Amino acid sequence: MKVLSVVGARPQFVKLAPIAEAFAGSSDEHVIVHTGQHYDAAMSDVFFADLAIPAPDVHLGVGSGSHGVQTGTMLSAMDAVLDEHRPDWVLVYGDTNSTIAGALSAVKMHLPVAHLEAGLRSFNRAMPEEHNRVLTDHAADLLLAPTAVAMRHLAGEGLAARSVLVGDVMTDVCFRVRDAVASTAPDLPDGVRAGGYVVSTIHRAENTDDPDRLRAIISALANAGTPVLLLAHPRLIARCAEFGIDLKASATLHTAAPLPYPQMVQAVTHSVGVITDSGGLQKEAFLLGRPCTTLRTETEWVETLTDGWNVLLPGLEGLADLAARPAPSAARSSPYGDGHAASAVLDALRAAHV
Ligand code: UD1
Repeated sequence: MKVLSVVGARPQFVKLAPIAEAFAGSSDEHVIVHTGQHYDAAMSDVFFADLAIPAPDVHLGVGSGSHGVQTGTMLSAMDAVLDEHRPDWVLVYGDTNSTIAGALSAVKMHLPVAHLEAGLRSFNRAMPEEHNRVLTDHAADLLLAPTAVAMRHLAGEGLAARSVLVGDVMTDVCFRVRDAVASTAPDLPDGVRAGGYVVSTIHRAENTDDPDRLRAIISALANAGTPVLLLAHPRLIARCAEFGIDLKASATLHTAAPLPYPQMVQAVTHSVGVITDSGGLQKEAFLLGRPCTTLRTETEWVETLTDGWNVLLPGLEGLADLAARPAPSAARSSPYGDGHAASAVLDALRAAHV
């Protein structure tokens, strides 16, 4: 079996890691196509290096642009790649522009498409990611769902016959890295001590692209009481510069570059909690046992809301108290699987391969 993975953005490199590892231990052929959606070394190369992912076989070098330009450039570049490789499966990941472009190119070339992380829904049609994931699910031939909730969403849209529950590959990589870095301490800026800070990331368009909203978020973080380690995504840096928002405005707000994955796991493990709008980080906080506050109106990862592990706070009120809250005492269940999802993905691809 020959599988061609299409990835392009940071969370997809994390999901690719356990899949690439599973392929390395199999007799199947795995081709990696990097669209170039994320191109900064800190957003891309370090993930391949730290997570021991083989270098991409093909790099489309698409870069940034409006959604239409970015997605369209990927589409026009993919035909030749798919024509050359003629895989048995095109495997796409998550909800980014690279996902929809990979799926659509494969469909147009009559190649079977499998969607990893199928069935997630925010039900927020203002998010570009929601359209990317819904359209990809309906185009794909095999829907690899991470959770029982995702399976229910797919069934509700008439897609049950093409859906398989495989678990969440992010659990595979998160637990592996957690164990690898368990005996090491995070490298923290001056004024930030282990067990006494909050990890924060903000990058969603709905939080970054409106100046008033972004100014309110940065101000709330700067006044959160607990020191905040803000790991700034390029979109956040760009919008703050554009709107004249000072990211170094407070002694308790510590802005830093995005962290490589192992250092991110370390930083969360030694934090009091997380404030984010990232999907992956909400789940990593849950898996690592840290409380999370999510600056959004909804989450795709509804399981994290159980017992208050994750709290949605679009309005920002009471952020300081929430940020410093202790981890819930209730034991967590395992809605995201046991860390062996990647081998279930390969099994499902083989079983559905005709
Ligand atoms: C994308 C995904 C989102 C995912 C996120 C993870 C879409 C629609 N969104 O959002 O689902 O959660 O990635 O990070 O696909 N930039 C750089 N260097 C880089 C990458 C981006 O400077 O390496 C800048 C560019 O100015 C770009 C902006 O960041 O315009 C945003 O990047 P983009 O790929 O458009 O979307 P993300 O916000 O990263």
